[in-house]
Amino acid sequence: MVYTKIIVENSPALRGTVKISGAKNSVLPIIAASLLSYGEVFIDDVPELKDVNVMIELIKFLGAHCTFKNGKLKINVDIKDVEAPYELVKKMRASFLVMGPILAKLGHAKISLPGGCAIGTRPIDLHLKGFQTLGAQIDIGHGYVEARAKRLVGKKVYLDFPSVGATENIMMAAVFADGITTIENAAEEPEVVDLANFLNKMGANIKGAGTDTIRIEGVKELKGTEHTVIPDRIEAGTYMVAAAMTGGDVLIENVIVDHIKPIIAKLTECGIDVFEEGTGVRVKGKRNYKAVDVKTLPYPGFPTDMQAQMMAMMAGAKGTSVIIETVFENRFMHVDELKRMGADIKIEGRTAVVTGIDHLSGAEVKATDLRAGAALILAGLIAEGKTIINDVHHIDRGYVNIEEKLKNLGAIIYRVD
Ligand code: EPZ
Repeated sequence: MVYTKIIVENSPALRGTVKISGAKNSVLPIIAASLLSYGEVFIDDVPELKDVNVMIELIKFLGAHCTFKNGKLKINVDIKDVEAPYELVKKMRASFLVMGPILAKLGHAKISLPGGCAIGTRPIDLHLKGFQTLGAQIDIGHGYVEARAKRLVGKKVYLDFPSVGATENIMMAAVFADGITTIENAAEEPEVVDLANFLNKMGANIKGAGTDTIRIEGVKELKGTEHTVIPDRIEAGTYMVAAAMTGGDVLIENVIVDHIKPIIAKLTECGIDVFEEGTGVRVKGKRNYKAVDVKTLPYPGFPTDMQAQMMAMMAGAKGTSVIIETVFENRFMHVDELKRMGADIKIEGRTAVVTGIDHLSGAEVKATDLRAGAALILAGLIAEGKTIINDVHHIDRGYVNIEEKLKNLGAIIYRVD
């Protein structure tokens, strides 16, 4: 049976322990990067998510052999095809990350243009500019992007915006290029670092990942390796906010504290106690937490993928919060849904002014994108009555068993058809 709704009722303060899964935004580029290898690749702690299955389907279509069980993914690669068709790429923008590896390995790649999505047009101009700088001929037509290059030659690439995807795609395209490629104004996200570590374990020569300048020296070929994916800092942040706003006491296990520093700092500003404990962090929330301002920025700034969750928390805070979204031009789709629950939010361009109220009220709402859906679940935990969330397939793209994990913490949450 296909479940289509999640019901959340006003819940008691969350208590207990939740284990964080492997990072979606790390494993997707790493699966794409496995196309570069000439040997068997073994990836551990792979989250069981729809987006992961889509990426596996895509590389299988291109000729890879995959087995995926209990979070362990084995990949043997011999790319036969250079074309990633629309029906596969339209499901997920991250599919475009196979462009760099195929171009690097075969010198020819033809990928359907990624579909748009709720949080903005999400162009790929920086990806293509990078490929062209390395010597690829780019043709766009009939909904496809085609890249050809006899030889890719290392060059200096400057990114107008520290795009995560463009940094990753260009890094993968450069691994076999002649000489040195330097990516300047590169994205510094932990997922970029995880990808670089994976590529280096396969024999690549990449330095500087995690800073704004990444240097890739071309090598002859890459061999197979094994790699464990880093924990998902956004999943961790989502449960941290859930514990904070319900006044709970939750241990969030399997985190890398460095990666969630901006989230810890923000919750501490609200008056929430967060401290390290073992391999995790413990969050001791309170119901009357302070409103704070939030401005999303590329890493190490406050993550845009946590903006919707913070807005849900601010909707029930004491005071007024100014939330500025600087990364995406249209990432306030959750505002209308939160307003249906009584939230007091005014939007002015990329700025939302949220005036906290004592009691949100449960309502029928819909998830417009992955993080918006998670934010509505959080709001439902503290709202009076029942919140019915539609289009939950968005949520399943990025959260492993979200209702089980929340139920185990005492939340009143369940799926209905
Ligand atoms: C990655 O998307 C993440 N997805 C997103 O997570 C995340 O929100 C985003 O990075 C920012 O951190 C994956 O890693 C699979 P960008 P990506 O390229 O690479 C503009 C989630 O919820 N841009 O850094 O697509 C773009 O329009 C998802 O897990 C260009 O202008 O993000 C946007 O405004 C949502 N030209 C900004 O850069 C380009 O060529 C950031 O995009 C590329 C991007």
